Amino acid sequence: MTKDRKLIIAGNWKMNKTVAEAVDLVTQLKRDLANVKEVDLVVCPPYTALSDVSRVILDSNLRLGAQNMSEQNNGAYTGEISALMLREFSVRYVILGHSERRQYQEESNELIARKALAAHGASLKPIVCIGETLDEREGNRTEQVLETQLKGSLAGLSAHQMEETVLAYEPVWAIGTGKTASTEQAQSAHAFIRGVVAALFDDAVARRVRIQYGGSVKPNNARELMSQPDVDGALVGGASLEARSFGEIVTNSI
Ligand code: 13P
Repeated sequence: MTKDRKLIIAGNWKMNKTVAEAVDLVTQLKRDLANVKEVDLVVCPPYTALSDVSRVILDSNLRLGAQNMSEQNNGAYTGEISALMLREFSVRYVILGHSERRQYQEESNELIARKALAAHGASLKPIVCIGETLDEREGNRTEQVLETQLKGSLAGLSAHQMEETVLAYEPVWAIGTGKTASTEQAQSAHAFIRGVVAALFDDAVARRVRIQYGGSVKPNNARELMSQPDVDGALVGGASLEARSFGEIVTNSI
């Protein structure tokens, strides 16, 4: 498959894996995926496993991501973790504005934009998540919701920072439900998102920005999803928790 943009497949482990389990999983991934050059590979363990996982993947083709960070660099923010702290573990990517955080921690687009700027300030690449709920899709509000999320969450980024940002389209109704967006639904949302990026920045930026799909990505649907012209990778939840299924998603996408 030829696409100008390099595919990026990331595993979002969410609140799963002890340190020992995380090391075990990433040790297997390092071995199984050692020859993969066509895809940028990212694992996003919980904070508690970042240090150990970081040591295992040193000198490998796996890159480290975190699942969240503070918009502040340091100070009296009990319980928070800053971009600079993540950098200490060679973290390269950070997931921002995942729908679970938008829902349970009530994260707003404005907060996500501040976090994205802080991430770039520390040379971390944000993976900014957007996506509509089932109600919004059924009410024909998908595009309006995506546009509002994009405008708000990307506010203040320079064109260069936008190119270094990864977007993840994750329809909320497809997360953890086993319901995947059809290839047509995914492609149409991704093309729309690219159009919004072109309007907010310019065509060249929009052509370069990578847009992942997330929501029940599995070995058996990865190939079809990844072959869509505007789908540039995947953000994988449940199926990233086992080396075999994550590995198959990667190999089926090449
Ligand atoms: P699932 O792959 O478990 O549906 O989760 C998707 C997701 O939320 C990734 O960030």
